[in-house]
Amino acid sequence: PWDEKRGAEIIAEHSALEGATLVILHALQEAFGYVPEAAIPMVAEALNLSRAEVHGVFTFYHDFRRKPAGKHVLKLCRAEACQAAGGDAVAARAEAKLGIAMGNTTPDELVTLEPIYCLGLCATAPSAMLDGRVVGMLDEARIDALIAEAQR
Ligand code: FES
Repeated sequence: PWDEKRGAEIIAEHSALEGATLVILHALQEAFGYVPEAAIPMVAEALNLSRAEVHGVFTFYHDFRRKPAGKHVLKLCRAEACQAAGGDAVAARAEAKLGIAMGNTTPDELVTLEPIYCLGLCATAPSAMLDGRVVGMLDEARIDALIAEAQR
């Protein structure tokens, strides 16, 4: 859970670095599993930026979460090579099976479904990553199996 004191320490530890905004947002997500809304003004103040500037960085990158993730995180590649290889159908199937749109967590908090933009596995597109493990050559059967695994 979010801990303001720990958050402030993390911000202070990194605030002198070049590109501190990104570094801090990553460090916060690493520590808490997401970037709490309350951290945005703290980062802005530490770096002498406006809240809008920090918020802009936060929303520009798809990696940052606004809320804690579920127990399992299933990332589906939505970049070009995977789309061309049938990624749209795979994504639609995952959304339908889980009953949530991309970027959300199932109500039982078991699975978070997120887009990712190229896993470097274009040769075996469409690709996905379940809890950090990459999986390629997704078709209906394979995405179903991945989802079943994530729901266990
Ligand atoms: Fe999906 Fe590269 S485009 S892995």
